[in-house]
Amino acid sequence: MGEDTKRNKVLVVDDDASIGRILGHILKKMDRECVLASCAEEARLLLKEETFDLLLCDIHLPGESGIDLVKNVISAYPDTAIIIVSGVDALDMFEMALEIGAYGYIVKPFKISEVIINVSSAFRRQKLEVERRIYGEKLEQTVANRTAKLLETLDGVIRIIARIVETRDAYTAGHQQRVAELARAMAEKMGFSPDQVKGIHMAGLIHDVGKIAVPAEILSKPCRLNDMEFGLIKAHPRTGYDILKGIEFPWPLAEVVYQHHEKMNGSGYPQGLKENEILLEARIMVVADVVEAMASHRPYRAALGIDAALDEISRNRGVLYDSQVVDVCLDVFRDGEFKFVKTERS
Ligand SMILES: [Fe+2]
Repeated sequence: MGEDTKRNKVLVVDDDASIGRILGHILKKMDRECVLASCAEEARLLLKEETFDLLLCDIHLPGESGIDLVKNVISAYPDTAIIIVSGVDALDMFEMALEIGAYGYIVKPFKISEVIINVSSAFRRQKLEVERRIYGEKLEQTVANRTAKLLETLDGVIRIIARIVETRDAYTAGHQQRVAELARAMAEKMGFSPDQVKGIHMAGLIHDVGKIAVPAEILSKPCRLNDMEFGLIKAHPRTGYDILKGIEFPWPLAEVVYQHHEKMNGSGYPQGLKENEILLEARIMVVADVVEAMASHRPYRAALGIDAALDEISRNRGVLYDSQVVDVCLDVFRDGEFKFVKTERS
């Protein structure tokens, strides 16, 4: 026998002791280790204690049937190959055996050659399937590890971008981080998947990246802006989009950044999008952005406070802001689930 056939362990389940003995003898000749059981119950106990590469199982057993035992082994011990050994010589039984996952079917009385061929081919197939499963698991692990590494790198890149923007603009320092935290809490409350929640948090961290192109003195001007200055500010979603659109993120970050000043009634900027034209992630970002901005100090005004911010989104619920998103935002604050945390530079 080939090297891959060495000492595979076989469990033979048959209530006819003479059949068990003959099968045991053939398997021994094939250099297999053989254990005999006379009923399903005994087989189950043995399966709990040892690992078997192959199960040779009669159908008609005293007590639990061989078919039920086979079904149990297929789900509980997927690496154990199964061959049915039965006196029933009928096509529908062969088909049923193969359908539930048996590798072969031997009809009693059998020829020795029939047993040898069935057993050898079952072992070959079982070995291939085990190798394929292990390879698949290793591949999955490798992909998961690489994805985790990639996400870690993306996380670092996004945090660096956020820092660069905030270094230039002391008044909005920490703003992106707090918007990201609120948007994340809202997305969680809305039942987003962990991956979508991660995406919206990332978008929040860099939603104002386009402000890098706005002169610092305009960003920190302690009075109202003139039209030209406001025009420069209004360009920041588009600038942010242009910066990010070439990078392939696993989330629509560039689009969310582009849309984070759009309003449900079309009065926002820069594209004047309406309702469903605005991504849900962006509709969340708009509300998180407004609430954080009103709750915090700005160069041209003192902080208005969280109550004023929640009042603003309530009054404009369904007009400027998505109704469902507003409700979720009110919920996360009123349920005490969320509080803005002061960041190190805020
Ligand atoms: Fe913005």
